[in-house]
Amino acid sequence: MSGPTTEIRKVMKKDLKEIQYICEKCFPCDDVFEIAESLIGVEHYYVALEPISKEIIGFVIFGIYSVETAHIMIFAFHPAHQQKGIGSEILVFTLEEISKSSISRVRLEVKIDNKQAIQFYEKRGFKIKGKLKEYYDDLSDGFLMVKEL
Ligand SMILES: CC(C)(COP(=O)(O)OP(=O)(O)OC[C@H]1O[C@@H](n2cnc3c(N)ncnc32)[C@H](O)[C@@H]1OP(=O)(O)O)[C@@H](O)C(=O)NCCC(=O)NCCS
Repeated sequence: MSGPTTEIRKVMKKDLKEIQYICEKCFPCDDVFEIAESLIGVEHYYVALEPISKEIIGFVIFGIYSVETAHIMIFAFHPAHQQKGIGSEILVFTLEEISKSSISRVRLEVKIDNKQAIQFYEKRGFKIKGKLKEYYDDLSDGFLMVKEL
């Protein structure tokens, strides 16, 4: 028998403290929390909850800007909850939500030294489509990755 699965719900303002913690753990060199805070009420924004404690273990923010393309802006999970299948689960949820808008392409950016995330996305059908010079706050380069739906 399988245990309770991850709960997913829309973000609320009261979640910001936990989101800040995840941002600081996952992106110590960039001010990602500033962006995450500014996008509440603006973009598609969901949190993943640990089913028993209800603690926030990750979140996704995505935008739909054209009839064709969606953009995953931030996708991050608490380090203690990585490698447990939760990222995959939330990515499936995200792609299903995006598909409801008859979108044909999903894009995202990832730091070129973030091997774990690049591998994660490649295994799930994203392809590197270009290099983004000095894209991040710390002036490191990024890759543009795209998945055709
Ligand atoms: C990249 C990231 C989103 C992946 O999330 P995650 O929750 O670790 O993803 P999953 O656990 O679903 O999958 C990761 C790997 O763990 C494996 N895994 C899943 N369940 C597992 C388990 N119970 N035991 C061991 N490994 C497991 C998966 O098979 C997967 O490996 P694969 O890619 O070779 O198939 C996460 O590492 C993260 O938040 N990183 C920091 C922030 C970041 O870099 N975000 C992306 C920037 S755009």
